[in-house]
Amino acid sequence: MRAGRPRRSGLIGWALLAMAMLLLAGCATDAPQDALSPQGPIARMQDDLWDLVYPIAVGVFIFVQAGLLFVMWRFRSRGDNASVPAQLHGNTRLELLWTIIPALILAGVAVPTTRAIFTLAEEPEGSLQVRVVAKQFWWEFEYTGEEGQGVVSANELHIPTGRPVYLKMEALSPQIPDGKIPGDPESVQNPQALNGVIHSFWVPRLAGKQDVVPGHVRTMYIEAEEPGDYSGQCAEFCGIGHAVMRFKVVAHDPAAFDEWLTTQSADAFDGQSGLAAEGKALFESAGCIACHAINGYTSTTGGKAGVRVGPNLTHFASRGVFAGGMFDNADAEQLAAWLRNPQAAKQGAQMPNLGLSEDQIAALVAYLQSLK
Ligand code: CUA
Repeated sequence: MRAGRPRRSGLIGWALLAMAMLLLAGCATDAPQDALSPQGPIARMQDDLWDLVYPIAVGVFIFVQAGLLFVMWRFRSRGDNASVPAQLHGNTRLELLWTIIPALILAGVAVPTTRAIFTLAEEPEGSLQVRVVAKQFWWEFEYTGEEGQGVVSANELHIPTGRPVYLKMEALSPQIPDGKIPGDPESVQNPQALNGVIHSFWVPRLAGKQDVVPGHVRTMYIEAEEPGDYSGQCAEFCGIGHAVMRFKVVAHDPAAFDEWLTTQSADAFDGQSGLAAEGKALFESAGCIACHAINGYTSTTGGKAGVRVGPNLTHFASRGVFAGGMFDNADAEQLAAWLRNPQAAKQGAQMPNLGLSEDQIAALVAYLQSLK
């Protein structure tokens, strides 16, 4: 009979090992998405709340567990009825204590939390305005207002350091006529680009998460202190491509940011020759133009590249990543694989497989890489 029983000590050993590994995973240093190493004032404000609440929660946990273990040990069965403790019902003093103490703790924690919530809900002065549109499965960033110069980017949100960036975020919804969000005059969407899924915008080192809900404009702000790359991630399950709905925030010194914005506001390079010129012709004849905008695109047949279903490609080659941060823009192989079969490259990709030949793919890759 003994052989059929699970080896209890072995199981406990495995369980302890698994727990130890989980704990040790928390010791990773230099993790790019570590919410506990804030790199800006907003993330720090939120981290301060964590620093306050976490020790209190740990203290409560230890106190309650210690009490539980003590009672289990003190009143354990000793195999005779004599060890059954005296049964009693109700103890007014104890019940008052364990109601009042937690209430005081929660009330104390609520003060700084509520203050932070209200502070974070305000639109900060002098902020840079960016409209964020969550799509399946990538992010579009539109620099609104006069300062934004109509720049539209994808997968990479460039920001200046030391200045709050106010994000107005939408997920496109099929329920809204003309794709307009009620009450928001800035919101003009292309109805062809609609989808109605909840996403969540999260750059752990710059701010907490904010859900992006179809039919609503959600706002938040982020701010970085130092130039650098900050990785971001969709944090709400939104479909098959959720795990690869990544993006990054690129923070520049204010002067470098202004330079970036000016470069991005320029029309696309339109003097292609050779293979890239063939690619440009294909951009139109193969149908890419039906979904992708390219500012300043001129066509011999009068086609306009102004549709924003897919990412705006005006300065495609100036970006580091595409397809929700999965692939490297500079890598011709990865671009070719994407054009050959988008769904095979990334599950759930909305871009159709255009059935392109290898020659056509090479030409389109050359064209895309000319869009600096
Ligand atoms: Cu978008 Cu998950």
